[in-house]
Amino acid sequence: MTIAETFTSRDVENYPFPFPRDQYRYSANVEPAGERRIVIDGHYRCELDERARILASDPSRAQCLPHMEPAAWDAMLTVMHELAESYPDHMMLDRLGGEAPSYRWRNTLLGIDDTFVFGDPGSLSSPPLTYIFGQVQEDVVLLDQREDQMWGDAGVVTFAADWSFGFDVGMSFLQIHGPVPRLHSEKIATRAHEFIKRLQPSQSYRRTNWTLTVDGKLDTSTESYPEWGRDRRTLADGPTEDVGERLFLRTEVQHLIRLPHSNAVMFLIRTYLLPFAAIATVPEWADRLYRVLEDLPLDMADYKGVSRTRGAGMRWLNVYGGVVP
Ligand code: HEM
Repeated sequence: MTIAETFTSRDVENYPFPFPRDQYRYSANVEPAGERRIVIDGHYRCELDERARILASDPSRAQCLPHMEPAAWDAMLTVMHELAESYPDHMMLDRLGGEAPSYRWRNTLLGIDDTFVFGDPGSLSSPPLTYIFGQVQEDVVLLDQREDQMWGDAGVVTFAADWSFGFDVGMSFLQIHGPVPRLHSEKIATRAHEFIKRLQPSQSYRRTNWTLTVDGKLDTSTESYPEWGRDRRTLADGPTEDVGERLFLRTEVQHLIRLPHSNAVMFLIRTYLLPFAAIATVPEWADRLYRVLEDLPLDMADYKGVSRTRGAGMRWLNVYGGVVP
C-alpha cells in the first residue's frame, strides 16, 4: 500500500482546505476557534507512534525551560479536560478526593489508566507536556508572557514544517518570525504579537498555514532535512504521473489558547496532509490550489520550499486532475 492509499474519503471530508480565495498572501488570519480544538482521526495511532519514534531518537524535540513547569501542568490539564469533553466514550478525567489535587486519567484508545497529583512530577511516567502530547496528534509550543513580549519557552514539536524547535526554544515571538519574508515590512508580525498578548483566559482562536510536502512525511524539520530534502528534487525531475500520489497539500490548523492558571499561551499545531490525487476528487479544491500555486510570489514560494515542486503539482493538476489553466 502506498502512503497516499492510507488516505480515505473521510480524510477528504475532514480536510481543513486552507484557501478561501484564488490568491494566497500572508495576513494575521485568526478567527474564533470552533468547538473542537483537538481532533482525533484515523491516523491517531500511526502519528503517535511516529512522534514516539522521533522523540526517542531526538530528545531536543521536547523541551521545557524550568520556569515553564507550571505552564506545562496547566497545559496538560487543559488538554485532558478538552479531550474528556470531546471524546467522553474514550477519555475520562476524574478529580479524586483527599488533600492533594489528585486525578485519575483514562484514555481507553491507548489503554491508559493513571492517577497523578497535579504538580508532582514523580506521579507521572514522563514530564507533563511529553505525557499528554504523547496522546494527541497536535504539536505544541507554550509561550510565556513577560517584559511585554511572548517567548516560546516550552514545547513538543515532532512535525515541524521546515523549522527547528530546538533552535527556536527560548526565543521571542518576533525573533521566531524573523526569517519569514514580508511579515515584518507588512506589520503582520507585530499585529499578531499584540493580538496574542491581549488574549483572555476564556478565549481561543485558530488560524491555518500551508505548504507542500513530498511522500507524506510529517517530520520535515530542519534536523531531519537529510531524510526529506532530496525528495523535492526527485519529485520535480520524476514522471508527472507519480505526482498525484507523491505530492501532498500540508495544512496546519493552529490554535491559540490562553491557559487559565499560568497565564501562558498554548499554541497547538495540527498537521493535516492530503495527496494531490485526493484533492482532485473535489474539483473546486483542485482548481483553487492550481490558481494559488500559479500566483504565489517567488519569495513566498522559496520560503515555503515549494519553488521546485509547485510546477510539477500544477502540471499534474492540469493533466490528471481535470484543471483547465
Ligand atoms: C496570529 C498568530 C501568528 C501568525 C499570523 C503567524 C504567521 C506566520 C507566518 C505567515 C509564517 C510563515 C509560514 C509559511 O510561509 O509557511 C509563520 C512561520 C512560523 N511561525 Fe508563526 N504565526 C503566528 C503565531 C505563531 C506562534 C504563536 C508561534 C509559536 C511560537 C509561531 C511559530 C512559527 C514558526 C516556528 C514559523 C517558522 C519560522 C521559520 O521558518 O524559522 N507562530 N508564522
